[in-house]
Amino acid sequence: MQVFKKKKLLSDWISLQKSQGKHIGFVPTMGALHSGHLSLVEASKKNNAITIVSIFVNPTQFNNQNDLKNYPKTLTADLDLLKNIDCDAVFIPSVEEMYTAHVISKKYDFEGIENEMEGSFRTGHFDGVATIVQALLETVKPDNAYFGEKDFQQLQIVKKLTKKQNITTNIIGCPIFREKDGLAMSSRNVRLTEKERKEAPFIYQTIKKATTMATTKSILEIKQFVTNTFKSNHLLSLEYFSIADEATLQEATTFEKNKKYRAFIAVNVGAVRLIDNLKILN
Ligand code: PAF
Repeated sequence: MQVFKKKKLLSDWISLQKSQGKHIGFVPTMGALHSGHLSLVEASKKNNAITIVSIFVNPTQFNNQNDLKNYPKTLTADLDLLKNIDCDAVFIPSVEEMYTAHVISKKYDFEGIENEMEGSFRTGHFDGVATIVQALLETVKPDNAYFGEKDFQQLQIVKKLTKKQNITTNIIGCPIFREKDGLAMSSRNVRLTEKERKEAPFIYQTIKKATTMATTKSILEIKQFVTNTFKSNHLLSLEYFSIADEATLQEATTFEKNKKYRAFIAVNVGAVRLIDNLKILN
């Protein structure tokens, strides 16, 4: 497995691969890899001759400095995992390599979807995500790039980003990977205490119940159910629950025929903020 720290060396190597007619698949990550990330790598390996993973904890997408400081960093284990599944190359740039002198985000307009949910609770988050994803896609120039649906709003933002910036990479969303007890896999899960980890599947259980209520209950009733359910749990604090149109990510007040909806949730479990989402089959 090739390991690159410099954009120039990586793009020279990629040009060589492309000159041999090989398709490039790309999986951008912030490291602390788990089976969810590895499923993205597997999806890429299926459809591309070459798979490249980036590991870069992007400072500009963290609105909370403590979250950035405490974000798990497990580079040696990550490299081992990637080597074991025959990943072709890993890109591990420094902050200076990606941002040169100024560690700041560009400003983007994604027609409002950046202001919903995560955008309204994490100021500047999506400008940070879009800045680094654009820089990575412009460096790697992959044919296909793979993103997990756990960050469903991020996935929609990246799709809009590529359209707006005329980036030709196909953006491919992959299903959420869950632990056996339903908890969505996240790099942040390792920061949960034993007690918190035991309680965390409550998030999935509650939104699962909420989505099954959609055939018989109104959105208001479902929201009340979720709010009240979380009130009874003293370890988990609900930040938001929203049922939104999958295309616009705007919060819905009624279900309309021919539209697709998803339930979105953000919960603080002690010092750890977790998100999840689930399709509504109504
Ligand atoms: O989903 C992530 O891990 C990050 O937001 C990403 C896409 C790698 C950008 O830093």
